[in-house]
Amino acid sequence: MTILVTGGAGYIGSHTTLELLKAGHEVIVVDNLSNAKPESLKRVSELAGRAPVFHQVDILDRPALDKVFAAHRVDAVIHFAAFKAVGESVAEPLKYYKNNITGTIVLCEAMKAAGVKNLVFSSSATVYGENPNPPFDESQPTSATNPYGWTKVMMEQIFRDICVAQKDWNVVLLRYFNPVGAHESGRIGEDPTGVPANLLPFVSQVAVGMRPQVKVFGNDYPTPDGTGLRDYIHVVDLAIGHLKAVEKLTAKPGLVVYNLGTGNPSSVLDVIRAFEKASGMKVPFEIVARRPGDVAASYANPAKAQAELGWKAVRGLDQMCADAWKWQSANPKGFL
Ligand code: NAD
Ligand code: WQD
Repeated sequence: MTILVTGGAGYIGSHTTLELLKAGHEVIVVDNLSNAKPESLKRVSELAGRAPVFHQVDILDRPALDKVFAAHRVDAVIHFAAFKAVGESVAEPLKYYKNNITGTIVLCEAMKAAGVKNLVFSSSATVYGENPNPPFDESQPTSATNPYGWTKVMMEQIFRDICVAQKDWNVVLLRYFNPVGAHESGRIGEDPTGVPANLLPFVSQVAVGMRPQVKVFGNDYPTPDGTGLRDYIHVVDLAIGHLKAVEKLTAKPGLVVYNLGTGNPSSVLDVIRAFEKASGMKVPFEIVARRPGDVAASYANPAKAQAELGWKAVRGLDQMCADAWKWQSANPKGFL
C-alpha cells in the first residue's frame, strides 16, 4: 500500500515510517519540520535500506497538500502531525487549536478532494481525563484537563461525525499511553526540544550528565510507592501497532478505537531504578510537590487491540530503558 504519514519525521512517526518501509509499503512523509530534523528521515532510510518520499509541507497549507495527493496514489493516511506539549498548550491554546484541529480539518478536506477515505489518527490516553479507575477500556467517557487534551477529544468527535456522514470513510483512532524508548539500533529516538516535560527523556538526560537530578513530582499518591503510575509502551511496539491499524482499514471497519498500551503500569521510582540498571549510571532524584493536573494512575486495558488487531506490546520496561539509553548515549545532542 502507499501510506501518507503526516508528522513522519517526528519521534513516533519516524519509528512508524521505518516499520512501514520494512513491511514493504511505499511511504510519503509530509512534515513541516517544526519539531523534527531531516536527519531523522536520513537515518530511517539507512535502516530500511530505502527511503520514503519526503515533502516539507505544513498540513495547514491546502494547495501544497493538494499537490502531494495529486502526485501520489495514496491508499491511507497515518496522521501524527500535531503539537503535543501540555504545558505549552495551556499558555498558547490558539496555537494548539489551530495546528491540531484546523490542521486536521484541512488534511481531511484534501483527502476528501483526492478520494482518500482511510485514516489512522494519533489520539492519546489523555482523553481519559481525570478518570480515577484504571485500567481504562475504550468504552470509558472522554474529557480533558488542558487544551492539548481537548484537541484530541475534539478530533475524535470530528472523526465520529465524518464517519456518520461519509459511510465509505474508515478511521482507526489509536489512544497511545506513554511512548518511550528508541529503535534498537540507537540511530533514531526521541529528540525533545528544550527541557523535556516527560519523565523518560528527562531521566535519560540526567543519566548522561546533561542535568543534575530528576524532580519526582510527588510521592503521596495512593499507589504502591506513592509515585505516579503510568503505562509506558516501547515506541517500536507502538509503531508495529500502526501496521496492524493499516491492515484493519482494509476491512472497511468504519470508525474504530483502540488503546495502545501494555496494561502493566510502572511508577516513577520503577522507571528511575530500571534506567539505572540499563545504563549503569546513577540517576539522582529529589521528591518535590505534585505537578498540577497529574493523575495518580493511568494504564490501559489492552484487550480490544489484542482481540481485534492481533496486536500486543512485547517489549518490557528494561528494554525500553536499554534502547533509550543506547540512543541517548550515542546521540547526546539528538539529531544535529
Ligand atoms: P513529535 O513532535 O516528535 O512529532 C510530530 C511531528 O509533526 C513533528 O515531526 C512535527 O515537525 C510535525 N508537525 C507538527 N505540526 C505540523 C504541521 N502543521 N504540518 C506538518 N507537520 C507538522 O511528536 P510525537 O511524540 O511523535 O507525537 C506524534 C503524535 O502522537 C502527535 O499527534 C501526539 O499528539 C501523539 N501522541 C504523542 C504521545 C507522546 O507521549 N509522545 C502520546 C500520545 C499521543
Ligand atoms: C509521567 C510520570 C509525572 C516528569 C504526558 C502527557 C500525555 C501524553 C504522554 C501526549 C508522571 C512523573 C514526570 C518529571 C516526574 N502526551 N514525572 N518528573 O504526564 O503521564 O503524559 O505524556 O499525548 O498527554 O500528559 O507523562 O512523562 O510527563 O509523566 O515525576 O520530570 O512521571 O508526575 O507521574 P504523562 P510524563
